[in-house]
Amino acid sequence: MIVTIDGPAGAGKSTVARLVAEQLGYMFLDTGAMYRCVALLANENEIAWENEDVIGELGRTLEYSSNQDKVFISGEDVTQAIRSPEVTAAVHRAADNVQVREALVKLQRQLASDNNVVTEGRDQGTLAFPDAQCKIYLSASPTERAQRRVDQLNANGGSVTLAEILEQQTVRDEQDEARELGGLHAAADALFVITDGMNIIEVVEHIERLVRIREND
Ligand code: DC
Repeated sequence: MIVTIDGPAGAGKSTVARLVAEQLGYMFLDTGAMYRCVALLANENEIAWENEDVIGELGRTLEYSSNQDKVFISGEDVTQAIRSPEVTAAVHRAADNVQVREALVKLQRQLASDNNVVTEGRDQGTLAFPDAQCKIYLSASPTERAQRRVDQLNANGGSVTLAEILEQQTVRDEQDEARELGGLHAAADALFVITDGMNIIEVVEHIERLVRIREND
């Protein structure tokens, strides 16, 4: 069974999807991490984003693997590196490259074949797995998403304001929604889970219930 969880940045997809996968004993796919790997390689090799074929080749030749919380490129642990501010700032360019998306969607399908999977991203229910049995669209109001991010950053010693984060979030939402191939939108058959006022455990339990209903269909 394939469970897709799509939605905007800051909706808590990654944490939720990871926990749902753990509870169900399913494999977990963090597809944003794959785009981050391509962005890291492009940055490290100083490849211009305009150089679409070379960037596309990075996607086609990416030797991606992951285990539990770690991400590897050709066996090298890049878990921290792909979360750097430089990669975060550049990754939308990797996601805009159609060749990269085609290559990564192919990789996602290969990884999911013959497995029970919870996969999270922007286009999992629409492009990568249009026939998935259970599609979730996970979101929260812009202010709630931004406030969670502010709390998270400030708890780690940052000093950001809600206005700053809201502004960055609006830009990311627009970039994600405007993308021609693999842009963020809910699949027609997606179940909406809006998490305002819910904690992680409640969200995970709610999604688990939705998956169990589909499992018994
Ligand atoms: O979820 P994230 O922040 O790790 O995603 C990184 C980037 O990749 C972000 O710009 C959205 C994009 N992305 C995408 O276009 N399609 C996906 N399936 C997953 C992520």
